[in-house]
Amino acid sequence: MLILRRYLESCGCEPDLVELIRLIARQMETIRKAFLENQTFERTLNPSGELQTQMDTWADEHLIKVVGNSGLVRELASEEQPDIIRFDNSRTDYCMVMDPLDGSSLISTNLAVGTIVGIYEGGGVLQPGSKLRAAFYTLFGPLTVLVVSVGKGVQSFAWDQENEHYLLLRTCISIPEGKQYGTGGLKMEWPPEHIKVIDYFDQNGFKIRYSGSFVADCHQLLTYGGIYTYPGSTKNPEGKLRLLFEAIPLGFIITQAGGRITDGKRNILEIVPEKQHQTTPLYIGSKGIIEKIEEIYSSS
Ligand code: AHG
Ligand code: MN
Ligand code: MN
Repeated sequence: MLILRRYLESCGCEPDLVELIRLIARQMETIRKAFLENQTFERTLNPSGELQTQMDTWADEHLIKVVGNSGLVRELASEEQPDIIRFDNSRTDYCMVMDPLDGSSLISTNLAVGTIVGIYEGGGVLQPGSKLRAAFYTLFGPLTVLVVSVGKGVQSFAWDQENEHYLLLRTCISIPEGKQYGTGGLKMEWPPEHIKVIDYFDQNGFKIRYSGSFVADCHQLLTYGGIYTYPGSTKNPEGKLRLLFEAIPLGFIITQAGGRITDGKRNILEIVPEKQHQTTPLYIGSKGIIEKIEEIYSSS
């Protein structure tokens, strides 16, 4: 059975990159254990103005410590930190972006949540997603799953606790043209283009699937196709989801699986981020549906 390390080596990944991905992947067992004692919200707000959960801060502090001690990352941007962190002890030029715990408002409901990571080779963290060296996410469901792309398609692995390996689950994942959608935001605040998009889905036999965890809602696209969207709103035209920590890494993975990501008008992977906590409206999923959405936007 193929394990994560061998897969990464077979792709020609540099040893430091293999070590970095494996290092973070191995923290998932530790993070999973921490859920039991960290079930509630903190009183603090993150840089996006959202109430943090105990697990947001726990996972953030844990991963910063592990990454900082590793000497494998020069620059780190986290959804939970106001500023970019620089590690002068780094022996590599890897720059990492992370959402330590995505979907954290669902922790108390025991729905699936996960960690999202993007890795650039040099050049800092404010780079377009098309320049990513690697991206991966983990998902805590019945299995702890890790989905990774190093620019050679998308593979998923499942944590085998007994043997302490990530075992290959699915190889060369390709997104089908499914008929399901999940949309965030308040209907009363949706922009007119988004209303047209949703009307199109409703008139064409799409069904609704939305959990409120971006990483989980995107993960199901790898099996069923369709799309996830969090549009801009009349109050927040730039949407809610973060370009660096959510849109770019997942956009890279979904694109590597043959899907696409757009803000309605342009490929999100081509956007050059201007600031760490920048947000973007987004549509992510099956290629044909995203093309239809861009058509609806351009004719509006
Ligand atoms: P996070 O838990 O990292 O703050 O992200 C929450 C995001 C995303 O995971 C999810 O799709 C979206 O916010 C849900 O927002 P709503 O609760 O507004 O639907
Ligand atoms: Mn998130
Ligand atoms: Mn988060």
